[in-house]
Amino acid sequence: MTARQRIVIGNWKMNPPTLPEALDLARAVGTIDPGEVLVGVAPPALALAAVAHALGDTQVRICGQDVHWEAKGAYTAGASAALLGEMAWGTLVGHSEVRRDLGDDDARVGRKLASALGVGLHVILCVGESETEYDAGATDAVIERQVGAALNGIARGAALSVAYEPIWAIGTGRPATASHASAAAATVRRAMSAAGLDADATAVLYGGSVTGGGAAEFAGADGIDGALVGGASLRAEEFAQIVRAFR
Ligand code: PGA
Repeated sequence: MTARQRIVIGNWKMNPPTLPEALDLARAVGTIDPGEVLVGVAPPALALAAVAHALGDTQVRICGQDVHWEAKGAYTAGASAALLGEMAWGTLVGHSEVRRDLGDDDARVGRKLASALGVGLHVILCVGESETEYDAGATDAVIERQVGAALNGIARGAALSVAYEPIWAIGTGRPATASHASAAAATVRRAMSAAGLDADATAVLYGGSVTGGGAAEFAGADGIDGALVGGASLRAEEFAQIVRAFR
């Protein structure tokens, strides 16, 4: 098995609230030494162009947080993959907050993923179970359903990573254990293989309350190749510590 690319992405969500603050954060992230790690940030859509410009001379990759499933047309407030592709390296697709707030279901996530891949964006497909599903022992079933639905019909070799983010760990300060994350990563890869994709070559990230202090545990976890970081990515020093853990 060839060594997989390690990836650490900061998902800024709807933060920081002003453009000057977003640019300050971008400049600070731009000073991080990535080593061999692919480091990216996913700023809010309205700040994306400015942040991309500010980081233009650095190795930091720019990601969208979401993308529309249609290429263009009468979709007020939609973010087209083609426009995003002009400014960004990749995009999140299927984040649980988008599933929760903006009505994404498995079918729509699949269409968004295909739309992003179609313009050459690297997709970070987000999957993960709710607390109720976790308690019911349904983690594997949820991952298999989400991965299978999203990747059905996607060509082998597509520019793709998967972020396993249990919903109960996001923003709660209660990360999954490394062994739970490893087991989930193995399930992701089984589901990818079942869909005919090259699971061994695909990076699987863990997300959900990753901190500077906690990152090393995930960096050492079997099958985990990186992190999708929310809250801690808004503090450049702590984000740098997370990047170092994966170097
Ligand atoms: P968190 O968010 O690190 O704040 O838990 C992770 C995410 O939602 O991607």
